[in-house]
Amino acid sequence: MATARAGGARGNSTVLVGSPETVARVLLDYVDLGVTTILIRGYDPVDDAVDYGRHLIPLVRQELAHRSLVAAQGTTMTVTPLHQDRAVDADLFRALLRRHAAAVVVITAPGEPPAGFTATSFTSVSLDPPLVSFCLAKTASAWPAVESASTIAVHVLTLEQEHVARTFATRGIDRFAAHGTWRPGPDGVPLLDGVLARIVCRVTQRVEAGDHTIVLAAPELGEHHEDTTVTPLVYHDGTYAHLQRSA
Ligand SMILES: Cc1cc2nc3c(=O)[nH]c(=O)nc-3n(C[C@H](O)[C@H](O)[C@H](O)COP(=O)(O)O)c2cc1C
Repeated sequence: MATARAGGARGNSTVLVGSPETVARVLLDYVDLGVTTILIRGYDPVDDAVDYGRHLIPLVRQELAHRSLVAAQGTTMTVTPLHQDRAVDADLFRALLRRHAAAVVVITAPGEPPAGFTATSFTSVSLDPPLVSFCLAKTASAWPAVESASTIAVHVLTLEQEHVARTFATRGIDRFAAHGTWRPGPDGVPLLDGVLARIVCRVTQRVEAGDHTIVLAAPELGEHHEDTTVTPLVYHDGTYAHLQRSA
């Protein structure tokens, strides 16, 4: 089974299901209406989608060649298999995770000197009791401080704090000096201001996991931005991104 998705320049799209002949006819109507992108998707086996595309694309192309529609000139057609399951090697693992979007936080831990690092591995774990977690590489310069910390602070960054994320991910610098203002909180944990939310947590457990350690922590103190229109900084596909709320 395969489907064709026809999309316009403004991002709206529709899914068409049927034989290549039927779908080609409807697609041409959509092209008349200004559709610029046609995506063909199929379920396993992938060959079905490819075969479907082989039938559909020439039908649409032939007809477009006979038309002198301005809208048709920019039309692109792509065959995208929906499922292409294969063994996860290092390259595929990275490619898969690049598709995953995550909020960006800075985690700080007390110490001499204190430690802070940018992370996307922060997540909620349990509601009762409240628990959160994050993962830290064992090789990270922040690890010795996090390994011995009983208190850590999680700072959820706003979309305007990309520079803060970059500072706390930069190697070989004094991150707190580069960041500027911060103040010591409970147990001396560094607190950063201007964030979307800040959660001071008691570390409850450290779990070895491959080349990282999962740190579990219980939130004890929290503050958050009152303005709900302020959105978080997001990391996706190797770059910082912003949220666009659906209407
Ligand atoms: C967006 C982003 C997310 C990151 N998330 C994590 C993370 O969840 N865990 C982690 O150990 N390192 C993470 N890092 C890397 C650390 O922030 C830091 O750059 C790394 O520990 C290298 O610093 P170091 O050389 O001082 O150890 C992330 C980096 C970026 C830019």
